Amino acid sequence: MNGPATHADLYQAARRSIPRFLFDYVQGGSFDELTLARNRAALEAVKLRQRVLTAIGDIDMSTALFGQTLAMPFMLAPIGMAGMLSRRGEVQAVRAARAQGVPFILSTASVCAIDEVSATGIPFWFQLYMAKDRGFVIDLLGRAKDAGCPVLVMTVDLPLPGPRYRDQRSGLSGPASLWGQWIRWRSIFAHPGWAVNVGLRGRPHALGNVAPLMNGRVRLKDFLRWSGQNFDPSVSWKDLEFLRAHWPGPMVIKGILDVEDAKIAADIGAEGIVVSNHGGRQLDGAPGTAQALPDIAAAVGDRLTVLADGGVQGGLDIIRMLGLGAKGVLAGRAWAYALAAGGEAGVAAMLSRVAAELRTGMALTGCKTIGDIGPQVLAES
Ligand SMILES: Cc1cc2nc3c(=O)[nH]c(=O)nc-3n(C[C@H](O)[C@H](O)[C@H](O)COP(=O)(O)O)c2cc1C
Repeated sequence: MNGPATHADLYQAARRSIPRFLFDYVQGGSFDELTLARNRAALEAVKLRQRVLTAIGDIDMSTALFGQTLAMPFMLAPIGMAGMLSRRGEVQAVRAARAQGVPFILSTASVCAIDEVSATGIPFWFQLYMAKDRGFVIDLLGRAKDAGCPVLVMTVDLPLPGPRYRDQRSGLSGPASLWGQWIRWRSIFAHPGWAVNVGLRGRPHALGNVAPLMNGRVRLKDFLRWSGQNFDPSVSWKDLEFLRAHWPGPMVIKGILDVEDAKIAADIGAEGIVVSNHGGRQLDGAPGTAQALPDIAAAVGDRLTVLADGGVQGGLDIIRMLGLGAKGVLAGRAWAYALAAGGEAGVAAMLSRVAAELRTGMALTGCKTIGDIGPQVLAES
């Protein structure tokens, strides 16, 4: 049998490759997972307008974002604990992203610390969470600056972690009963490839950037507990102004879903926003991002760079989001599944597929360049 070809194949391959509690962690959303489903449904509802005989010729998929030239308007979204999906997963992902000419965004909650990823010599963007300990935040900012990260992505939709009931069920968060621990170990033994590749050879399993704050306790559930206690629900726009002042480069605010918030982001001088609901992992009941995007892009698209994520699985989804007003698109689970299924090569293959799909989609919507993709690619519903 050949390797995974589509997003659905990667989903299945990831499911086979990693223990169930990790797969559930990646796949799941918060509460009843309504918004998680809405993200995909909202994108699928966007119809594309087919154009033919447009003498399209060569297609240029490159784009400029925040002073960088990207091979296509696509980014690997920050994913916490990616290094648990494949050995030193963030390092593998940054290599794959570089090979395909797109940015990798390193999460605050990564397994590989900023220093380990920057030792590859590959530039990457850094995603920051606001912790109660502002000294820690400033220190992380300094480390990202020293590592030469060109763009800071400040995630603002996680003042408290949304309840992820799959993680409670699997014992990843909350107290694990003896039965729960047995299920987990059984799942690990059922995936000997993962147990050797990540469980044994992928150590340390610390969350590199936050381990120093966790008093040497490094298990995943310790992180989930730490994040519940240390993410700061009192964070406000004032804190973002403060960060703005400490970060010399472009700052992108991730987790905007409302026009009013988008306007404030522009007012405080952010260079970009990501229209995002954290992949349906925070406020369940919020709209799918493809629903929220058009109004936000219309309100602030001339003042800052609007990016979007949520439910993106392939190249046609990039065209949909750009048609709705985004200038670039992030994907989370798409690369997490690819990493779990095939490591660096898996992520590189996923990116090649996305690029090939984007090219075909551009040809069939009559777009020669990324700048040509606008509302005209959308069919009336
Ligand atoms: C397993 C997982 C972990 C995530 N960790 C982070 C994180 O550490 N920081 C962050 O800003 N967003 C995080 N996100 C949200 C993603 O960056 C992104 O917004 C989301 O995955 C987009 O939806 P998609 O998975 O449907 O592409 C995470 C998402 C998933 C699925």
